[in-house]
Amino acid sequence: MLKYSECCTALQAAPRTWLVTGVAGFIGSNLLERLLLLDQHVVGLDNFATGHRRNLDEVSGLVNAPQWARFRFIEGDIRQLEDCRRACEGVDYVLHQAALGSVPRSLSDPITTNAANIDGFLNMLVAARDAKVSSFTYAASSSTYGDHPALPKVEENIGRPLSPYAVTKYVNELYADVFARNYGFRATGLRYFNVFGQRQDPEGAYAAVIPKWTAAMVRGEPVHINGDGETSRDFCFIDNAVQANLLAVTAEEGARGEVYNVAVGDRTTLNDLFFALRDALARQGVDYALEPVYRDFRPGDVRHSQADISKAARQLGYAPEFRIREGIQCAMPWYLRNK
Ligand SMILES: NC(=O)c1ccc[n+]([C@@H]2O[C@H](COP(=O)([O-])OP(=O)(O)OC[C@H]3O[C@@H](n4cnc5c(N)ncnc54)[C@H](O)[C@@H]3O)[C@@H](O)[C@H]2O)c1
Repeated sequence: MLKYSECCTALQAAPRTWLVTGVAGFIGSNLLERLLLLDQHVVGLDNFATGHRRNLDEVSGLVNAPQWARFRFIEGDIRQLEDCRRACEGVDYVLHQAALGSVPRSLSDPITTNAANIDGFLNMLVAARDAKVSSFTYAASSSTYGDHPALPKVEENIGRPLSPYAVTKYVNELYADVFARNYGFRATGLRYFNVFGQRQDPEGAYAAVIPKWTAAMVRGEPVHINGDGETSRDFCFIDNAVQANLLAVTAEEGARGEVYNVAVGDRTTLNDLFFALRDALARQGVDYALEPVYRDFRPGDVRHSQADISKAARQLGYAPEFRIREGIQCAMPWYLRNK
C-alpha cells in the first residue's frame, strides 16, 4: 500500500486524466488545485448551483501556466445525462463531488436536492460505466449514520436517515453497491465528516458552521449556536479529504467498491469550536469580544458525530495530517483575505 507522499510521487511520474464534478465548489476546487499541482490533466464539470467561478480563478493563481493549461472546464448539469457523458470522455478517474449539500436546504426543498443528488448521481454512474473509466470515487456523507447512537461511527452500523439530504447520500451508496454487483462497476464512497477549509462558502442561509461563524466573528457580528452547544462533530480539514480521494483512487483493486469514513477521529463540541475559532482569530490580531447566542436545536441534525477511521487507515493508508486546530490555523488567513 502506498503512503500519501508515495502516491503523489507516482501520480506525478505518470499523469492521468481526472474528472472532478462540482469543481467550482469547496471540495472540488481543492481537489482541482492538488491535482494540477501534481501535473495531472483535469476535466471539471459544474453548473454553479452553489459553486463559484471565483474558486476556479483562485486556483488558476495558485498553479503555474502549464499546469492551468491542463484544466478543461465544462459548464453543465449532472441532471443531464448528455453533460455527464461529455464530461466522462477520455477520463481515467472520476471524483464525483457535485451535489446539493446542507440538511436544512433538503428539508425546505427535498425535490431539488433529490434531483441533483440522486438523479444526477445515477447519471454520473451510468456515464462513467459506459465510458469505462478506471475508477469512480464519490462524496458520501456521515449523515448516513442518521439516528444510530453508537460512537465512534463504524462503516457497517448505520441508523435511519434524519433528513432528505441523508436519504440521498445513502441512496448513492445503494446505487454504487448495485452497480458493483450487476455491472462489475465498483465505486468507492468517502463518507466525509464536516469538512472545512479555504474556499468553503461563508455566505448564504445554508453555509456550514466554520465559515459562517468565522465570517461573523471577522465582522464583529453575533455567533448563533443551535442548541446547548454540546452537539459535537468530527471536523475534518480539507487537505485530509483530498488525501483520502487520491489514496482511494490509487489503492489496490481490493479496496475499491467500499465505503470509508473520512475524518480525523476527534470529537469537538460547538462550544469548543467557538473558542478554537476565537483563539485562531486572536493569533491573527483580530479580537472577538461577544459571547455566543444560543437558540433552538436545528431539526434534522445529528447530536454527536465522531468517526472510526481505522478502515480507511488499514485499506487505503489514510493518515490525516491535520487536526481541527491546525486546520483552522491554515484556513484563517484565507477567511481574513476574503472577508
Ligand atoms: N463539506 C462537507 O462537510 C461535506 C460533508 C459530507 C459530504 N459532502 C459532500 O461533498 C460534496 C462537495 O461538497 P462541498 O462542501 O464542496 O459543497 P459545494 O456546494 O461547495 O460544492 C458542490 C458543487 O457541486 C455543484 N453542483 C451542484 N449541483 C450540480 C448539478 N446539478 N450539476 C453540476 N454541478 C452541480 C455546485 O455548483 C458546487 O460547485 C457534495 O457531494 C457534498 O454532499 C460535503
